[in-house]
Amino acid sequence: MILLREQLMITARRDITPGIFSLRFRDAEMAAQSHPGQFLMIRTSPHPYPLWRRAFSIARVYPETSELEILILKVGKGSQQLGMLGPGDSVNVLGPLGTPFDVESARNRQAILVGGGIGIAPLLFLADRLLPIAQSVHILFGARTAGQLIPMGQLEPYTEIITEDGSAGKTGRVTDFLRPLLLHSTDHPVIYACGPNPMLKQVQFLAETHGIPCQLSLETYMACGMGVCMGCPVPARTPDRPYYYACVDGPVFHADQIQFEE
Ligand SMILES: Cc1cc2nc3c(=O)[nH]c(=O)nc-3n(C[C@H](O)[C@H](O)[C@H](O)COP(=O)(O)OP(=O)(O)OC[C@H]3O[C@@H](n4cnc5c(N)ncnc54)[C@H](O)[C@@H]3O)c2cc1C
Ligand code: FES
Repeated sequence: MILLREQLMITARRDITPGIFSLRFRDAEMAAQSHPGQFLMIRTSPHPYPLWRRAFSIARVYPETSELEILILKVGKGSQQLGMLGPGDSVNVLGPLGTPFDVESARNRQAILVGGGIGIAPLLFLADRLLPIAQSVHILFGARTAGQLIPMGQLEPYTEIITEDGSAGKTGRVTDFLRPLLLHSTDHPVIYACGPNPMLKQVQFLAETHGIPCQLSLETYMACGMGVCMGCPVPARTPDRPYYYACVDGPVFHADQIQFEE
């Protein structure tokens, strides 16, 4: 069930890097109904501009306090408006929305999580849910430079950091390190990925080359977030329909459903 909270109070704010911060909200019903891969649509300002809500992946759920957390990268108007808020302020929130990751498909298998930039957000919540059921969890977290990384906290022992400029962790792109992992894995891996489309396209290619099940979470620009405006088409590979809609059919898709642009 999709819940609408016209005045959901921010319970905490954490400034993680100069460009990334997190916000927490307390809502027992929303927290209980949220699954990894789902997102919230948030009105970033009480004023008419920007008109549309912005989508934010649910990055963590804290069952002990009934809180949900989102990570926000300051990009444009909406994310900057949220950046001016803190504990005690309220926002209009719709959610949880979208098709989640299939967590069960990693039961007793090796789960490989590939996150690019702010695409790491839904993978944090996913990792929390995978750790008790997967045989192992391996997170590849890539960013252009060290300043775009977030601290992984208790997920650090499971995480391999990769930066394109070599300023932290290993040097290169996450997919450079996914390839050898797939070549040497004997634990029936399952891949989950979220990040920019060029990264997802390469993950899709590697998964298909190695015959490994793979789920991709797309960051397609959305307007309504609930299947009304038809503003989030994703080219489909399946012959029965030309497009999926990212907000209702996704944002999580099986890799073989999606046709990325050439
Ligand atoms: C399912 C989903 C989950 C998301 N999760 C997160 C999250 O966890 N954390 C987070 O920080 N952001 C997330 N986003 C992106 C977020 O919804 C906003 O798009 C982002 O915050 C920019 O909004 P803005 O108002 O700040 O910038 P805008 O003023 O809307 O945009 C600034 C510039 O960036 C471009 N742009 C914005 N968003 C996108 C996009 N998604 N794809 C391509 N171009 C874009 C715009 O065209 C414009 O040029 C997610 C998006 C989706 C669809
Ligand atoms: S964002 Fe409106 S239909 Fe997907």
